[in-house]
Amino acid sequence: MQLLPLLLLVAFFPGGDNEEAFQGPTSYHVIQISTFANSTWTQNQVSGWLEDLQIHGWDSDSGTAIFLKSWSKGNFSNEEITEIEELIRVYFFGFIREVRAHVSELQMEYPFEFQIIAGCELHPGGDIVSFFRGAFRGLDLLSIKYYSCVPSPEGGITAQQVCTLLNQGIIDIITKLLYETCPRYLLGVLDAGKADLQRQVKPKAWLSSGPTPGPGHLLLVCHVIGFYPKPVWVMWMRGEKEQAGTQRGDLLPNADGTWYLRVTLDVAAGEAAGLSCRVKHSSLGGQDIVLYWGHRTSIGLMFLAVMVPSLILLLCYALWFVRHW
Ligand SMILES: *[C@@H]1O[C@H](CO)[C@@H](O)[C@H](O)[C@H]1NC(C)=O
Ligand SMILES: *[C@@H]1O[C@H](CO)[C@@H](O)[C@H](O)[C@H]1NC(C)=O
Repeated sequence: MQLLPLLLLVAFFPGGDNEEAFQGPTSYHVIQISTFANSTWTQNQVSGWLEDLQIHGWDSDSGTAIFLKSWSKGNFSNEEITEIEELIRVYFFGFIREVRAHVSELQMEYPFEFQIIAGCELHPGGDIVSFFRGAFRGLDLLSIKYYSCVPSPEGGITAQQVCTLLNQGIIDIITKLLYETCPRYLLGVLDAGKADLQRQVKPKAWLSSGPTPGPGHLLLVCHVIGFYPKPVWVMWMRGEKEQAGTQRGDLLPNADGTWYLRVTLDVAAGEAAGLSCRVKHSSLGGQDIVLYWGHRTSIGLMFLAVMVPSLILLLCYALWFVRHW
């Protein structure tokens, strides 16, 4: 069980109505995955993110950005975007050329992959801190601090050599993008996307039973669907008492940018009655959703018991009516 996130969320929702706590994302980052298959074939996969929301793609063939939201350009003009795309193309060109030229010297063997994450983050005091971290074959390789490349200890000699190359070559482009462009862009895009990023979408919840965990046991499943932003608190309860066996699944994204969460509890079949699933979310303004195990089904069944015969009757009558018209 992921106890820590739950505890953190409890701290975030002391009374359940702390709407001020969530103001949407505060950082922008680009992920670059460069695959060097052999001496002539390299692929760059690039994407731009506001935390876990992707807002940019990259078309490697044309060397241009893809804007996934109407506000993905932030407050930058088209001329400025074109300039940045040009800088990025020069960066990729330089990066690939340098790596290829020094493959044997850097003791790299095809195929291999670089992963880079770079961007900037707005801190509570208003400072914007930029970051750049590179990994080689999945291990930390280097980072950029104070306008120059710093090798990671676990990167060994390769890291030192790559840093030397970077510091002599494309460091100017990287630092310009990192320390000038990114902070300016971040403030602009957070403002441009405000309505979208700070929206509140209420969750819906329903209960079901999962695959039996063992003889005489039930798996109670609480589905929480379609909420935004991401932080949510969901717990199986008996009265006011949180059930320690509550298991939280992974937060899964929906295509519309909202989230889905599944929270389960394994109980002895006789003890399911009286349990409830409680959902706290910033969009609910303190009005937690509480669903009782057993209630929903009985209400659902009652609805079916009353409605289905009436509907059939109505249908028969309609058919009879049409026939005899
Ligand atoms: C390089 O790798 C690409 C992609 O795997 C492949 O299509 C191409 O034939 C390879 N070229 C050489 C010279 O090995
Ligand atoms: C965009 O907004 C940021 C922050 O408000 C500002 O510093 C910048 O000058 C604006 N315009 C451009 C073109 O970057």
